[in-house]
Amino acid sequence: MKKINLPYTLVDLQPELSSFKDDVIAGLGQMPKTLPAKHFYDKTGSELFNAITKLPEYYVSRAEMEILHDFGPDIAAAIGGQAHIIELGSGSFEKINQVLPFLDKPAAYKPVDISISALQDTAEQVLKYYPALEVTGICADYTSTLEFLHEDLEINKTICFLGSTIGNFQREEATDFLQSLGSELAADGQILIGVDLKKDTSLLHKAYNDEKGITAAFNLNILERMNKEMNAGIHADDFMHHAFYSEEKGRIEMHIQSNKEQFISLEEHTFHFSKGETIHTENSHKFSISEFIALVDQAHLEVDAFWTDENEWFGVFLLKKP
Ligand code: SAH
Ligand code: AVI
Repeated sequence: MKKINLPYTLVDLQPELSSFKDDVIAGLGQMPKTLPAKHFYDKTGSELFNAITKLPEYYVSRAEMEILHDFGPDIAAAIGGQAHIIELGSGSFEKINQVLPFLDKPAAYKPVDISISALQDTAEQVLKYYPALEVTGICADYTSTLEFLHEDLEINKTICFLGSTIGNFQREEATDFLQSLGSELAADGQILIGVDLKKDTSLLHKAYNDEKGITAAFNLNILERMNKEMNAGIHADDFMHHAFYSEEKGRIEMHIQSNKEQFISLEEHTFHFSKGETIHTENSHKFSISEFIALVDQAHLEVDAFWTDENEWFGVFLLKKP
C-alpha cells in the first residue's frame, strides 16, 4: 500500500503489476472472448466516459443528476449529520456535489476509483469547493478488495455507488457485492445507490449507440490500451462497436466485433478472430423497481428511501440494514 500526502491523502491499493495484461490474456483465450469492463478506465477511457455523460442520448447521467439536484436536500437529510461519505467508482465530482452542500457537517469524503486520473480530479475539485473537508482518495479495484471499508467499522458510513455502475455486475454478483457492502456497515450505516430502470428499448439502444460515436470510441479504446500497454499493434479500424439490448437478460451488452478474419499478437500469445467474432466488453443491467427491491432483499438489506425522475427512467435508493 502506498500513502501519499498531497493537500488530500491518496492511498494506492492497486497491485504494482497491473491485472490488465493478465485479464486480457485470459479473456481473449476464452470462448466467447470477454474482458472485464473495469479496464475501460485508463486516462483516455475516463475522459471518454465523461464525454458520454454529456451526450443527448445518454439519459442515464442526466436522469440521475436531475434526481440528485431536485432531491439533494432530502437525500442529505436522510443521510444525516457528521456523515463519512465513501463513494465507489466516483468518476467525476459532479454528482456527489449535488448532495454535499446540503449535508450537515460532513466528517469525511473518500472517493474510491480504479482510475487514478479520475480520482485525482475528483479529490482536487472537492477540496476547491470544500477546503475544510477531510478528503482521502483511494485508488483501488473494489471487486478485488474492500479493505478501505474495514477501518472505522463502528463509524456510521454512507457508501455511495452512483451512475448505475451496479448494473455492470452480473445479477448474482450484484447481490453478493451489495451483501459484502452491507457487512462493512455499522448498524446505522447506509448505502446510496443509483440504478438504471427498465424502459423503452429504442431509448436504451440510442444511449449506447450515440450518433457522434463517443460510446464506440470508449469501447474501442480498450484496443488502444492494449496497443499502449502491451505493444499489441492492433488496428482499431479492423474492429467495430456493437451494442444491443437483450430483452431476455434485461441488459445492454457491449461487444467489440472483428470486421474480418485476423490474428492479434500480444506478447508471446496469438489470438485468432473469425469474421464477426466478438469480445464481450460490458453488461449494463437494467432493473424494474420491484426487481431491484428483490435484489436488495436477497442482499439482506432494506430500502429506506427511494427517489426517481419525472420519467421514472432512473432510481436513487437509500439502503439500510434491517
Ligand atoms: N459515478 C460516476 C462514474 C461512473 S463510471 C458517475 O455516475 O458518473 C464508473 C466509474 O467507476 C469510473 O470512474 C471507473 O473508473 C470506476 N470503476 C469501474 N470499475 C471499477 C472497479 N472495479 N473498482 C474501482 N473503480 C471502478
Ligand atoms: C459506468 N456504467 C454504469 C456505464 C453504463 O452505462 O453501463 C458505462 C457505459 N458504457 C457505455 N456507456 C456508458
